[in-house]
Amino acid sequence: MTTKASVLRILEENRGRFFSGEEIASMLGVSRSAVWKAVKSLEAEGYAVSAVTNKGYCLAADTDILSPEGIRLYLSPEYCDIPITIHKVTGSTNEDAKALAVAGAVHGTMVLAEEQTQGRGRLGRSFYSPKSSGVYMSVVLRPNLAITDAVLITTAASVAVARAVEEVSDQTPEIKWVNDVFVQKKKICGILTEAVSGFESGVVECVVVGIGINVVDPGFPDEIKQVAGSLFGQRPDFSRNRLAALVANHLLELSAALPDRSFLDEYRKRSMLLGKPIRFLENNVWCDAVAVDVDNSGGLVIETAAGRRTLSSGEVSVR
Ligand code: BTN
Repeated sequence: MTTKASVLRILEENRGRFFSGEEIASMLGVSRSAVWKAVKSLEAEGYAVSAVTNKGYCLAADTDILSPEGIRLYLSPEYCDIPITIHKVTGSTNEDAKALAVAGAVHGTMVLAEEQTQGRGRLGRSFYSPKSSGVYMSVVLRPNLAITDAVLITTAASVAVARAVEEVSDQTPEIKWVNDVFVQKKKICGILTEAVSGFESGVVECVVVGIGINVVDPGFPDEIKQVAGSLFGQRPDFSRNRLAALVANHLLELSAALPDRSFLDEYRKRSMLLGKPIRFLENNVWCDAVAVDVDNSGGLVIETAAGRRTLSSGEVSVR
């Protein structure tokens, strides 16, 4: 780890608390001037570091910049060595993660961006990803799962996000099948899972799970503001690093237990559709139904005028 990364780790771990240059230098076994240089370099990157005579350095509590050090602080010990790449700006973190996966990236590898210029959503849509207001992250998973269970990855990812959101806020998130996460009836998170390799063999070898969470209100464009919302109105007093790490912890934990489907009960409890009248899109026509259950493959069981059937993918909305 570079001196800069080590200094950032100490400051991140102790937000709001002062450490003298001498203390940090002795903790790291480097000179005070090396610490000073590291602090200057962090400031140049946008970190708000207060430097007060006789007190030392302190990272402002409201500094919210994504960093591998900041994320690692909240990763469970078993995941704390996973590779993490952070871009200031990128087209799509899913594209970046897929390229890394093709080059052999290990299970759990994370790619995040402060901003995406070509953020992608399901069904060919775009995902609005303005600077510093969300968590835009993609995780490489190598689940070795039967292809028939592939949909469970995305189902599990929505549970992971709901758990993490609940841990950082006082909200009770709901999941709209297949995998949108809603808070106060607004979509705050979308998930796009893309295959990388292995599907020909009947086994899901490698996928990229892309997760976009709107953390603070960026002022949504007119075309999405009816549906899209953010978790908080203003910047909360925790960093997006923590939210990203909590999502990764839950996703990696759940992905180890996909075949036993134990998380499906939680998914059902968090569903905003079950028991409700819904609409589903079929051949470009909206049809009425009632959502009855989520089956063990993650399919949505619905009751229509013509009887009971199961949707395995598609677009639904509450009536
Ligand atoms: C949807 O709502 O339809 C899914 C949106 C998925 C957005 C995330 S943001 C990180 C990753 N990179 C992308 O380009 N898309 C996903």
